[in-house]
Amino acid sequence: MRSLIDIVDFSVEEIQQLLETACDISENPAKYADTCRGKKLATLFFEPSTRTRLSFEAAMYELGGNVLGFSEASSSSASKGESMADTAKMLSCYVDIMAIRHPKEGAPYVAATNASIPVINAGDGGHCHPTQTLADLLTIYREHGRLHDLTIGCCGDLKYGRTVHSLISAFARYANIKFVLISPEELMLPKYVKYEVLEKNGMEYVETTSLEEAIPELDVLYMTRIQRERFDSFDEYERLKDSYILTPEKMAAGKPEMRVLHPLPRVNEISVKVDDDPRAAYFRQALNGKFMRMALILKLLKEAEEGRQMEQMETVEDSRLVCDNPRCICSTEQELPHKFKLVDAQRGIYRCIYCESKKNLI
Ligand code: CP
Repeated sequence: MRSLIDIVDFSVEEIQQLLETACDISENPAKYADTCRGKKLATLFFEPSTRTRLSFEAAMYELGGNVLGFSEASSSSASKGESMADTAKMLSCYVDIMAIRHPKEGAPYVAATNASIPVINAGDGGHCHPTQTLADLLTIYREHGRLHDLTIGCCGDLKYGRTVHSLISAFARYANIKFVLISPEELMLPKYVKYEVLEKNGMEYVETTSLEEAIPELDVLYMTRIQRERFDSFDEYERLKDSYILTPEKMAAGKPEMRVLHPLPRVNEISVKVDDDPRAAYFRQALNGKFMRMALILKLLKEAEEGRQMEQMETVEDSRLVCDNPRCICSTEQELPHKFKLVDAQRGIYRCIYCESKKNLI
């Protein structure tokens, strides 16, 4: 069954079709009001959410469908130890499509490989958040009229920020994109995203700790929250949490056409005084998230009806390849086989199929 686990599961052409459908939905909502009549969406949220869960639910209601689900792990049988694979098999008996948010990286992938209905990754740990990326792409497309020839600054927690990882993967397939990576040393973009996405695709990028120096050249400033829930040390979080605060004074150095995006929630990183600046696009971005999720639900349900399958990736099982990432779903679901994909044969680099942690066999 076709699912959305990682933004690269969809081709550029498919993303373009989604953008066009989402624009049409926003302009002609009545045309879509009955398109999911009789269909059910499950929202399985094992981690807190406001936008993603409620925009999925609003999306399904506006398509004429129904919604069921839970918003915290403690109210599901996961709290009794039920596995993700069994949960996915159960939900396949009750609904037509499901969206999953989970703190463990790879949990939606495990669900997708066990479900007989489409599965949407609504955020898995610090790994991916592809529907946020779809909302981001729609926002940039609507605000700038293009997804090429852009200088994009990503600011804040680039280490654990799954929205940034997904955004960079998405833009690797568009022309003339430059990334300006703005973060404290401790929260720099992980090496695997740098080497295997930016460098492998020949993308231009610079790293800096200074938001003020970066702002003047940006077409898009993508702010992110320093995420308390991803830190092992509270002291470290306290030290870094206010590394960047966007203020009207800093905005003054930005171009008139610069747009500020933020996946939200924000804490302190954008002053509320910036909200009235027409370049602040983050609330429009949240609305775009609903249109994009409507387009996505329609696409996946149509493909399910057509019997379209998820592309199988080639995997390797070897006793030397054991994932030791404590955030990976295989750290809690003991019977999951440790499977890897070969990403660089010359250097013997493998990545866990669930969380993409690296293992080297040379
Ligand atoms: N952007 C986003 O994922 O927000 P929520 O955590 O509120 O869903």
